[in-house]
Amino acid sequence: MKTGLNEQVFKKILDSLQTGKKEYVRISSAHLSGISYLNIGDAGLEFLEDLSRSGLRFKVKTTINPGCVDFDTPMECDPKVFEKQKKIVDSLKAIGAIESLTCTPYLFDNVVKKGQKIAWAESSAVLYANSIIGAYTNKEGSLTALASAILGYTAKSGIHRGKGRRPKIFFEHRGELNDELDYGLLGYAMGLRAGAKIPYLRLTNTRNLYPAYLKQLLASFGTSGGAPLIWIEGVTPGFSKVRKPRRKIVLDKHELESVKETLSEELPSNPNGKIVFITGCPHYSIEEIENLNEALKNVRKLSVEAWVFTSRTVYLEALRRGLSENMSEKGVRLFKDSCVMYCSLKRSDACIITNSVKAAYYLRNSFRLRTVLKSFNEFVNTYGVG
Ligand code: F3S
Repeated sequence: MKTGLNEQVFKKILDSLQTGKKEYVRISSAHLSGISYLNIGDAGLEFLEDLSRSGLRFKVKTTINPGCVDFDTPMECDPKVFEKQKKIVDSLKAIGAIESLTCTPYLFDNVVKKGQKIAWAESSAVLYANSIIGAYTNKEGSLTALASAILGYTAKSGIHRGKGRRPKIFFEHRGELNDELDYGLLGYAMGLRAGAKIPYLRLTNTRNLYPAYLKQLLASFGTSGGAPLIWIEGVTPGFSKVRKPRRKIVLDKHELESVKETLSEELPSNPNGKIVFITGCPHYSIEEIENLNEALKNVRKLSVEAWVFTSRTVYLEALRRGLSENMSEKGVRLFKDSCVMYCSLKRSDACIITNSVKAAYYLRNSFRLRTVLKSFNEFVNTYGVG
């Protein structure tokens, strides 16, 4: 069947990003967002089905973001949503995508290196690739990442030009950042202040600079801000060579507390729906699952369910290491293939406790759920039994 979709259509999409002279850069990896049926609906599914029939194929390694279902637990979702989510993934596989279904492709499924030019959508992964690994990707939209995967190149704009990587705003955080939630709140506060400007960040206390905490910082920054990169002093490859903006904005715990108030409320004493702790936004690494297991060592069980979201690759590794059995005995469920915007949460009246600022933002604003922000340790101290 003729679909009318060809390379010229996708080239026009990339050209719309360019001002003045049109130039391109070759890429060696793409990562696509806009995969969840709950976001793209029937129109998005039809488009991807058309694309799979067009004969076009991805020219570079291409991974995909999570959807809205766990393919091993169909009974929890509306069967139509489940079936359509499957069709979306099948269409993308037919065009050449790897069925990664994760927002942390950099861990296993689409590992990239410093200096590698790539075209990734999914803001948390973009920020990780640029700020931690030192790769180069703009914060692509769903369509521009798709166009780049099909063409094998992207527009030479933004971060692909030297001046597009320069920091334009300087933040210094003074004080302690004790856990993943503090880092997430800092990222969110920075994004609100920075808008589309690339920041340079100095932390006066670098005691807890763990990858899992940096993931939260970057994911939250990508939620409230528009820039694809944070120059983190002592972390981002090449940070010592960039010229820092002169004016410094100092952030402290008061700013983080006021940001927290916008996304976190008190739990009602008798909530209508169930209370669920959600973590894994962005998806957990195997180290984070191990740490979670360790944190639960002295707890017999949890009095509310804890849902942990991860990639299928990490899930299988957790199974292999015997981690999931122990967790499930304590009331922890591991989900794979899905974003925290999980099918059964839509139109539910659940109260969500989460340690992810990004998850709180989307579950609150898109699914209209009540959200409470707590670090994982705070959650275990409150809801751990025995
Ligand atoms: Fe990943 Fe979904 Fe969070 S794509 S970063 S789990 S909102």
